[in-house]
Amino acid sequence: MSKPWKEIIEELDQEQLKKLALKQRDEIDELARLLTLYKEVSVHQTRLATMGEMCGGIAHEINNPLTIINGSLFLLERQFQKKDARPEVIAGHFERIHETVSHISSVVVNMRAMVVKCEGTAKQVVKINDLFCKSLIFCETKFKNRSIKLESICQQGLSINCQPTQITQVLLNLFSNSFHAIKDLEIERWISIKAWSENNLIYIRVIDSGNGIDNEHVKSIFTPYYTTKSIDEGTGVGLSISKKIVEEHQGTLEYKLVDGNTCFEMSFPFPLEKKS
Ligand SMILES: Nc1ncnc2c1ncn2[C@@H]1O[C@H](COP(=O)(O)OP(=O)(O)OP(=O)(O)O)[C@@H](O)[C@H]1O
Ligand SMILES: [Mg+2]
Repeated sequence: MSKPWKEIIEELDQEQLKKLALKQRDEIDELARLLTLYKEVSVHQTRLATMGEMCGGIAHEINNPLTIINGSLFLLERQFQKKDARPEVIAGHFERIHETVSHISSVVVNMRAMVVKCEGTAKQVVKINDLFCKSLIFCETKFKNRSIKLESICQQGLSINCQPTQITQVLLNLFSNSFHAIKDLEIERWISIKAWSENNLIYIRVIDSGNGIDNEHVKSIFTPYYTTKSIDEGTGVGLSISKKIVEEHQGTLEYKLVDGNTCFEMSFPFPLEKKS
């Protein structure tokens, strides 16, 4: 049997104890380094998972407009072949192509913003409505395909001081959780996002038509790697990373029931007014 630690320490002289302490400090430093690395990898992993989620949406968001552009080009060609081509019809087709190209480029711009490493980017005051729009671009089609009604209500003029890509990532995580929870429900399927201000704080809620999270899971949902999903559906990091991001913005993220429905609520401080 190996000797107890107390006896080993008593037998060591000062020099040996110092060496042992130094060795342990090195080991603790190494553990701290590994822990930091591990945290970085999980953040990266969530970003990749979010991107994977988005790719399905993006395929639709780009494919559908491409079909519209193709159709308009075909009709334009026919107009040009006609002797009595009508300028207003031609202008209409050009306008549709122009709008559709703009839509594709906004999808691409948002996609690029998500890919860019954003840890270093400065915070900026951003309208919450813009954050909602930019996040929804990635999942509107997915919701529509499952007949999930979407309601977005934002008190006019509300802004928060944030790294927009990070808050977009939080919203996408919450939408993805809601989508997963209600997509196969027989009851009415809806997701509602709201933003308002109250008592000097700004609140953002994502509510879905699911009827809450079972008590046995509630206490663990913010724990990293806690998931009730199968291995190919979730890794269990979405909520823990989202909470961390929100707290880095001096905010809070919590789960609650609202009128019997599943709700995730964020609160943020008001952006500080710039003094001139
Ligand atoms: N809107 C929701 N409705 C019901 N359960 C939810 C909802 N949001 C989260 N949960 C529960 O909380 C768990 C943890 O969520 P979290 O987002 O951290 O991980 P995940 O969705 O399982 O995996 P990942 O986000 O890494 O893909 C989920 O597995 C699910 O059980
Ligand atoms: Mg999730």
